[in-house]
Amino acid sequence: MKRPSVLIAGAQFGDEGKGKIVDLLVQKGDLDVVVRFNGGANAGHTIVLDDGKYPLHLIPSGILHKETINIIAAGVVLDPLFLVKEIENLKTRNISCDNLFISDRAHMVMPWHRALDAAQGGRLGTTAKGIGPTYEDRAGRRGIRVGDMIDENGQIDLEHFSQRVREVCAEKNNLFQKVHNLEPLDPEAIIKEFVAAAEVIKGKVRDTGAMIADLIGQGKSFLYEGAQGSLLDVDWGTYPYVTSSSVGLAGCYVGTGNCVLPEVRMGVVKAYGTRVGEGHFPAELGAYERIKEQDKVAPGGSLPHLTPEEQQQALAGDDYWMGRWLRAVGAEYGTTTGRPRRCGWLDIVAVRQAVRMSGLNQIALTKLDVLDGIPKLKVCVAYEYQGKRTTDFPARIHHLHDYKPVFEELEGWDTLGKATSFDELPEQAKTYVKKLEEWIGVPIKIVSVGSHRASSLWR
Ligand code: GDP
Ligand code: IMO
Ligand code: MG
Repeated sequence: MKRPSVLIAGAQFGDEGKGKIVDLLVQKGDLDVVVRFNGGANAGHTIVLDDGKYPLHLIPSGILHKETINIIAAGVVLDPLFLVKEIENLKTRNISCDNLFISDRAHMVMPWHRALDAAQGGRLGTTAKGIGPTYEDRAGRRGIRVGDMIDENGQIDLEHFSQRVREVCAEKNNLFQKVHNLEPLDPEAIIKEFVAAAEVIKGKVRDTGAMIADLIGQGKSFLYEGAQGSLLDVDWGTYPYVTSSSVGLAGCYVGTGNCVLPEVRMGVVKAYGTRVGEGHFPAELGAYERIKEQDKVAPGGSLPHLTPEEQQQALAGDDYWMGRWLRAVGAEYGTTTGRPRRCGWLDIVAVRQAVRMSGLNQIALTKLDVLDGIPKLKVCVAYEYQGKRTTDFPARIHHLHDYKPVFEELEGWDTLGKATSFDELPEQAKTYVKKLEEWIGVPIKIVSVGSHRASSLWR
């Protein structure tokens, strides 16, 4: 019998808990191949096992499973220097990347992309990983692809690669010096650094379009691991405060080069809302101007907790403090940048757009435990604009602050306790899940109640 393939897609602003769900599904069995098809090292997908956290960026979240084939497909923008570090980090934790393959068509994030993102990306609050500038050069037909550095036999094509780097560097140096006032690039140093990385990854390069087609032909089952979330989609997100790739099913077609329609299309939805970086966030808790300055935590630093007085303010209905409550309890700090994430209530309008974009037919609801102890929970079910209700996400986001969220209020619960099945959850938590299901219009199949693989309830 053919085993179903699965798409995992973020249904909000990213960081919904996709990494955990991917790992869970792979562990449950019957998935042979995990494919990343969009984005790059801007993604941060966290898996938590007994021996601690595994934050993954470029490498698919199936890597912790020895038998699983992991593919970085053509739609990903790949920073080889970053990839080599990620491979080495995993090696120190005894995770082998022997089963990792890379597309020859993936565009490479080059040092000029990272420098330009750092110089220009602040306005949008990007991750500064060079993602936008690399996709820009892809569309502008100036990009350098993995296949420009490593040939079909896994050999480094030094002559061609060096020529491309020198050509592009000459162009970029013009831009760097005349427009951005940046130090010029040294093509020879870049070539050297990249060739060293190529030595590590050259055996992994494949025509992944053909490879995926072959594996499909052999009856293998796939998990297509989306990065980011639908409201960061370059076309359908809160443009221009978006990433530069197509997120969800559309990105899966483009990125894999195969006409795939996974039978299971699972949206990952966090039980509340978060967003990191600039841009509109209708159901945000607290005015953004006030939120911006708070809670900067050094990597490895301890998370700020609310004092009893601050908790009282949150419980008395102060949105600003409720936002900080969610950040503290949910440990809402970026996996990639460490930035504090902005927090809000769950926005059904946004989730329903994700359902439409990817034909989602199942939902995994994550972080339900974070809502413990909040007596009244709000869910945004529509917006009101110029006196009218709408359930469509607007294109004209410069007006989005005039869209007022329409909230429904639900009863909270004290604690989820140690529930090991959905039925054991407090009645109010079950009602919360069932109401969300009704509003979203898609069955919630997994309820995640903790970061560990084991804290997952199946329905
Ligand atoms: P992704 O980018 O969608 O993979 O999500 P991230 O890994 O960036 O952020 C999700 C965070 O929430 C990670 O730190 C996870 O370990 C954590 N997490 C996932 N599911 C749950 C859950 O059900 N409860 C709690 N408390 N944490 C969770
Ligand atoms: P995962 O896969 C959350 C956000 C950035 C910024 C905007 C553009 O972990 O869910 P970029 O560097 O892509 O040009 O930044 O998009 N962003 C994410 N936010 N999760 C992500 O990925 C994100 N990837 C990009 O914060 O606002
Ligand atoms: Mg993340």
